[in-house]
Amino acid sequence: MATHNVFITRRVPQKGLDMLLNAPDIEVDIWEGDLPPPRDLLLEKVQGIDGLYCLLTEKIDAELLDAAGPQLKVVSQMAVGYDNIDVAACTERGILVGNTPGVLTEATADLTLALLLGTARRIVTAAEAVKAGKWQTWEPMGYIGPDVYGSTVGILGLGRIGLAVAKRLRGFNVKLLYYSRQPTIEAEAVDAEWVDLDTLLADSDFVTIHCPLTPETKHLINAERLRQMKSTATLINTARGGVVDQDALIEALREGVIAYAGLDVTTPEPIPVDNPLLDLPNALVVPHIGSASISARNKMATMTAENLLAGCRGERLPNCVNPQVYEE
Ligand code: DGY
Repeated sequence: MATHNVFITRRVPQKGLDMLLNAPDIEVDIWEGDLPPPRDLLLEKVQGIDGLYCLLTEKIDAELLDAAGPQLKVVSQMAVGYDNIDVAACTERGILVGNTPGVLTEATADLTLALLLGTARRIVTAAEAVKAGKWQTWEPMGYIGPDVYGSTVGILGLGRIGLAVAKRLRGFNVKLLYYSRQPTIEAEAVDAEWVDLDTLLADSDFVTIHCPLTPETKHLINAERLRQMKSTATLINTARGGVVDQDALIEALREGVIAYAGLDVTTPEPIPVDNPLLDLPNALVVPHIGSASISARNKMATMTAENLLAGCRGERLPNCVNPQVYEE
């Protein structure tokens, strides 16, 4: 039986790992470090492999693909987003790219709600105050934030995750606006109104970002766009840091152009501890944990293993980003 060599760039949930370790035709090499493998080591480790199991922390570009060699069949990413992968360079070389759509939708939508409610109700600020011994009395003016119930929420990108957020928000009696290239039929079920970006920014109390990072969406939310928002508004981002011009956001939060931000994603990741964003009292930043629920991470790990196994064995990937490779 021919064996296929694969490299896994980090220890991942056991369910996914076991699928590979128990496969008789797969030879597994795994980076055991807590942090991503350093670039030079990664370039060394990929040499001669048939399949790569990677995370969004690795840059998969032409240099890496060339270092791997022409036998590389599949790059299987444990994430739905793949802006870290040069897909065109993979396609040119006939390398399949797999991802994990669908299985982290609900977890990411939950985290979006957590950030929306957490920022609105100043949860972290209030909890930190308790720990610091600052809870001296019931404060009639303390920790007051905007109402989520009955507010207007603008969803930027009504794909799977945007829609899951919309469904949750229906219970909050909000007015839902969304902006995407075209109106979608699914919007009717959640009673969301398709508007242009200018209207969405101007009318929303909360703007939540759910579009992928592409050349078109890079810095879509820039200084000018932030100025279009209400000064009382909150910006939530659980998509990719690059969709927002972070320097402009810092300035906007500092100057009161908008009121608050809740961010699961930043530029870069991790964000350096001395970044001014972390000094702002009106920014809540968490470390890219949108998909960090038990079932989402288990499913992501097994789906990534399925894509990897299929690619190595010359079978169709269950979830392929560049199916045009099959046509070539
Ligand atoms: C993804 O899958 O793209 C997420 O950002 C990981 O949490």
